Amino acid sequence: MLDRLLPLLPTHPGGRSPITCEYRCGNACAHPEANESGNEYFGDVVKDISRRRVFKAGAVMAAAAGGFAALSGTAAAAPAHHGPGHGGPKPRPVPGTDFDPVPPNKLDQVSIPAAYDQRVVVRWGDPVVAGAPKFDFAKQTAAAQAKQFGYNNDFVGLIPQDPLGLTNLLVVNHEYTTEVHMFPADQYDPANPTEEQVKIAWAAHGLSVLLTRRDPIHGGLSVVPSRFGRRITLDTVFEVRGPAAGSKFLKTSADPSGRKVRGTQNNCSGGVTPWGTVLSGEENFDQYFANADKVTDPVEAARLKRYTVGTGTSTRKWERFDKRWDVSQEPNEPNRFGWVVEIDPNDPNSTPVKHTALGRFKHEAANIKITADGRVAVYSGDDSRFEYIYKFVSKGKYKPGNSAHARRHNSALLDEGTLYVGRFTGDSPAAEIDGTGKLPADHEFDGTGEWIPLASGTKSFVDGFTAEEVYVFTRQAADKVAATKMDRPEDIEPNPVNGRIYAALTNNTDRGAAGKAGVDEVNPRNGNKNGHVLEWEENRGDAASTRFSWRLLLVCGDPAAADTYFGGFDKSQVSPISCPDNVAFDRHGNLWISTDGNALGANDGLFSVPVTGPERGHVKQFLSVPVGAETCGPVVTDHVVLVAVQHPGENAASSANPTSHWPDGGTAQPRPSIVSVWKKGRFGLPGRIGER
Ligand code: FEO
Ligand code: CA
Ligand code: CA
Ligand code: CA
Repeated sequence: MLDRLLPLLPTHPGGRSPITCEYRCGNACAHPEANESGNEYFGDVVKDISRRRVFKAGAVMAAAAGGFAALSGTAAAAPAHHGPGHGGPKPRPVPGTDFDPVPPNKLDQVSIPAAYDQRVVVRWGDPVVAGAPKFDFAKQTAAAQAKQFGYNNDFVGLIPQDPLGLTNLLVVNHEYTTEVHMFPADQYDPANPTEEQVKIAWAAHGLSVLLTRRDPIHGGLSVVPSRFGRRITLDTVFEVRGPAAGSKFLKTSADPSGRKVRGTQNNCSGGVTPWGTVLSGEENFDQYFANADKVTDPVEAARLKRYTVGTGTSTRKWERFDKRWDVSQEPNEPNRFGWVVEIDPNDPNSTPVKHTALGRFKHEAANIKITADGRVAVYSGDDSRFEYIYKFVSKGKYKPGNSAHARRHNSALLDEGTLYVGRFTGDSPAAEIDGTGKLPADHEFDGTGEWIPLASGTKSFVDGFTAEEVYVFTRQAADKVAATKMDRPEDIEPNPVNGRIYAALTNNTDRGAAGKAGVDEVNPRNGNKNGHVLEWEENRGDAASTRFSWRLLLVCGDPAAADTYFGGFDKSQVSPISCPDNVAFDRHGNLWISTDGNALGANDGLFSVPVTGPERGHVKQFLSVPVGAETCGPVVTDHVVLVAVQHPGENAASSANPTSHWPDGGTAQPRPSIVSVWKKGRFGLPGRIGER
């Protein structure tokens, strides 16, 4: 029994606990990578000289300016020298990042800068739907959980409902359940869960929609009862749309149409669309299934293997209570997960959608940029080691606005267009990328790239694949076109100020291992424990372009280590950062990065970093989360910072010996929660985030 193990378990590569690894991604790190394709790309460097020159010139200027950077104090900082000539007036940090950083720590609390305050907005078990019963850890029921805030909050979306942003719809993903922490240890037997416990887990997955109000006097965000309160769970019916709707690969005995899927699961991160809906990525869906090894058809077996669909008995044993989780009985059920789903929180009666045109893989998130001619581009990463980065560009054009008509029109754009996969090429000689993280002679990990089309509507661009196969078995299609194997692509978002796209590549300890893909300029470190942050600019700044220029903004880790790089900024002045996961932008265009699995030994956190000007690369830690937790979902507005604190205390073997008591303190069980943080301003009124 797990609860007989030591309460403090050893950590796995990347700083995660074994419980996190088992329940979150089905021990993906312990299994061989799914991508065994030999598609390493050694093609010619494709250069768009004119674009490249402009991009590179900007980098040189930024790097040069970084040499005289305004050196504000940081957690790690020794006495700082401020600007050229030391002793001149101290320049203010970039707007949005002017706060005293939080030092790395192991505290069981949310640590925030001086002059800031915080409040929990909503925690696991709090009411979402009218009539939800009070949370009772020892007496949870599936009926209660279906009306209460779900488990392990990840993505957070805030959708303003008034011009001042005082009322907002809050949309949250509930990525996964950790049953050994959700029930009293003497009630839950991992080998023999009860049917009610399994149904509680189904209800704890999915999403929550809540109406919230920001307090303009005292600061922070509170939930207000409303007609918008909604839970989406593994029992909510989704409409399948786009080119694979009705596909033979999606038909099951419960749904012979292949167009109605019950539920969504492992919703990791996502994005708010310009039309006020939410996209959410179904990520590690494979781990919920059992018995894929009993499928004997070699083509089907290869497809299941490429998606690492579960073999033998599953961790959660759901297959005992619904045969759809048993692949030997319902071989197509796994094909009905791994999509980007869209929720319309404005309409509590709307049917959520699975958008098949965006491809099927372990979607971390999905974020949108409007193209120069008014179409919609969606960026999404496949979060596993050696997987790919994708882009979808719609055929039709975006209609501004968030009326019901505009929402319907714009949502339909995601059902027809072209799906691409990314190929990244370095501009430095391969011999200069030695795997240590040492910068090449041109002082940057950078280069160009292209988007390789996979399918458009019913047309496939991949030899041997129908369009339907491209959409449902996207990983295998991408293997055929020399896409670049990345170090676990997590969140990807366009910067609303400079128009560039930013991707977190969280880590890949197998990079360069025997029999695995070696380093390249865009994944330049062997055994990459700490991850990196990639920035690219589509040619002409147009998200519809099929070519781009890229460079690494951050090579994360201990700034004192030789293998790290902070955009050319003085490394003695930055906060350590490890395992970047979710990204967001503030109004000024500063990048905010939340981390998952700090490999440097401290708790995870949220960090700000300017991406232009002399402070480009100046990483500062804004907050840290409690013991065992991961920081997710950041939202940064002028008035509030929101983070999802996911899996606090997950380094405990079970609920018998909690390692965290956050947020309730005392001897309470830890509860995943959303936290709001605000600046205490003058006269007791809230100030602006990151401004003095
Ligand atoms: Fe659920 Fe890729 O993190
Ligand atoms: Ca280079
Ligand atoms: Ca994530
Ligand atoms: Ca994000």
